[in-house]
Amino acid sequence: MNKATATAHPNIALAKYWGKRPAETPLPAVPSLSLTLHGMSTTAEVAFSDEFTRDEVHLDGQVAQGAAAERVVAFIDEVRRRAGIKARARVTSKNDFPTAAGLASSASAFAALALAASKAAGLELSPSEVSDLARMGSISAARSVFGGFVELDAGHDEQEFLAASQLAPANHWDLRMLIAITEGKKAESSRAGMERVSETSPYFPAWVGSAPQVMMLARDAVLRKDFQALGEAMEQSAAMMHAVCLAARPALVYLSSGSVAVLHELAQLRKEGTAAYFTADAGPHAKALTLAGDQDRVVERLRSVPGVVEVRVCRPGAGAQLASTSTPPSVGRSSAAPSP
Ligand code: PMV
Repeated sequence: MNKATATAHPNIALAKYWGKRPAETPLPAVPSLSLTLHGMSTTAEVAFSDEFTRDEVHLDGQVAQGAAAERVVAFIDEVRRRAGIKARARVTSKNDFPTAAGLASSASAFAALALAASKAAGLELSPSEVSDLARMGSISAARSVFGGFVELDAGHDEQEFLAASQLAPANHWDLRMLIAITEGKKAESSRAGMERVSETSPYFPAWVGSAPQVMMLARDAVLRKDFQALGEAMEQSAAMMHAVCLAARPALVYLSSGSVAVLHELAQLRKEGTAAYFTADAGPHAKALTLAGDQDRVVERLRSVPGVVEVRVCRPGAGAQLASTSTPPSVGRSSAAPSP
């Protein structure tokens, strides 16, 4: 039996990816930039054995069924295809943060799974190749393979290889991403949401046309460590993403009353002289980006916002890491995990 375990952290997009190119494999319609977060993680263990008679998937301590299991098995099929093996797999994936809270976990899950499964299958992949593989499970997972500030280009039609890359390491800038968990309802999956938006939102072509420019503003602000420029670009990217969603038919409303209240609260904080900026993804929770020195003040204010039930503090984190492997000498070769 060949077995490997890997850990990865979620990431939050500073410049959003939203929408896929019409292609066979998942390719993003726009470039994106994210921050990998320390403080929350997914650990995935994958074992391949000729003795297993079928694939088995355990997610957060339960045997997975239906769409969740199918998605993991489809991913494992891709790993088997790349490795040229046929053995069935046992996959165990656990988050150390509550999935029930609706926090996006597919990025950390597929990044950890890509690293563990490729290793257990006997593939010796570079970090870029792990990222390209992770993209097959979830496009944002390609970014969680790397630590710190990570960028991912838009795809070109029928392109076969597309990997994220690190723009700057976690210690480049001591920022804080504060996650404000709100009482909002369970959101529609990003996969279904993107499809509806690209098919029905009249603003979708405008989003695809203008997102690269906002991404470049955010990228440049990260390199220059210009917090105001980064915050403004990040807020605009989120506003543009939610605008294109609101214009879909029927409207796709991810923002909750709590997350909109956070948006207003952060604007008020800035008027009072504290720099903190808003973003939100395909769910009801809000996120605030701030500087390490302003963390306590911003956390206190977020806790006072009606609808916010909990605030989590995340600093920049490392990339996916291999925890352990056990492979026979014939297939087991030593390789470095992606660097933080
Ligand atoms: O790749 P997915 O399905 O996790 O989509 C992620 C989309 C957003 O989180 C909303 C934006 C992003 O770039 O992470």
